Amino acid sequence: MEIIRTPEAMQLRALDLKRAGRVIGLVPTMGSLHEGHLSLMRMARKSCDVLISSIFVNPTQFGPNEDLAAYPRDFERDEFLCKKEGVDLLFYPESKMMYLPDASVWVDEGRLSSGLCGAERAGHFRGVCTVVAKLFNLTQPDLAVFGEKDAQQLRIIERMVRDLNVPVKIVRGPIVRERDGLAMSSRNKYLSEQERKNALCLRRSLDHVFEQMEQGERSVPVLREAMRTFIEALDGAEVDYIEFVNEQSLLPIEQVNCNTLVALAVKIGRTRLIDNDIFYA
Ligand code: PAJ
Repeated sequence: MEIIRTPEAMQLRALDLKRAGRVIGLVPTMGSLHEGHLSLMRMARKSCDVLISSIFVNPTQFGPNEDLAAYPRDFERDEFLCKKEGVDLLFYPESKMMYLPDASVWVDEGRLSSGLCGAERAGHFRGVCTVVAKLFNLTQPDLAVFGEKDAQQLRIIERMVRDLNVPVKIVRGPIVRERDGLAMSSRNKYLSEQERKNALCLRRSLDHVFEQMEQGERSVPVLREAMRTFIEALDGAEVDYIEFVNEQSLLPIEQVNCNTLVALAVKIGRTRLIDNDIFYA
């Protein structure tokens, strides 16, 4: 596995591969890799000749009060895992090389970004879109795999690719969970033993309302309230949002009469976790 540290070297290498007719697959990450990330690498591996993964804790997608400095980093372990998964090229740039001090062009999605995580995290998706556009230009992928864990991010990237005619096929990777149902996340490392137990409330509250929807309940206010009550029964669990939105448009609905993305963000102690699932009506 080759490790590339500068954007210039990455782009030259990718353009060479492209000219040689190789199919390039990309899995962008912020590192601190877990089985969720690795599953995306396995998916990409199946459809490409050259698998590129990137590890970059992108500063522009973190708000001023978020965990940029504390974000878990363990390059040696990540390097080992990438090798094991058959990554051919690992792009691991430094922040100052990715953004010049006077950088002034951004990619800003204007419709899907406003609700859900976008409402709580101003500028977050602008940072995500901009870095993903840069990574696409640097690695020249034919396909790129993104996880359903970040359902809104995935749809925003699909929209960016559609609206800017970016020649990259976006592949959706299912959510990988721990055995007890907790969605894998680099941020799970922050949880104490008790918080780790409480964190199960995200998946369980989804199970709870999915059962109700299967039994015919269609009122979003009723379903949302059931989820909130379930979660807030726990000490130290605070709901950031619980949203029921149209799975494609991400517009809020009041009745479950279309394929519905149920998405939530909950603070467990100081750690903000997200989860989601789709109900097919
Ligand atoms: P990161 O949180 O490291 O996630 C990288 C990719 O792994 C994303 O596509 C995410 O949806 C996926 N992923 C994370 N947990 C997963 C799980 N439990 N199951 C399946 N897939 C999972 O998302 C980002 O980084 C950044 O925003 C990035 C796209 C790299 C841009 O900076």
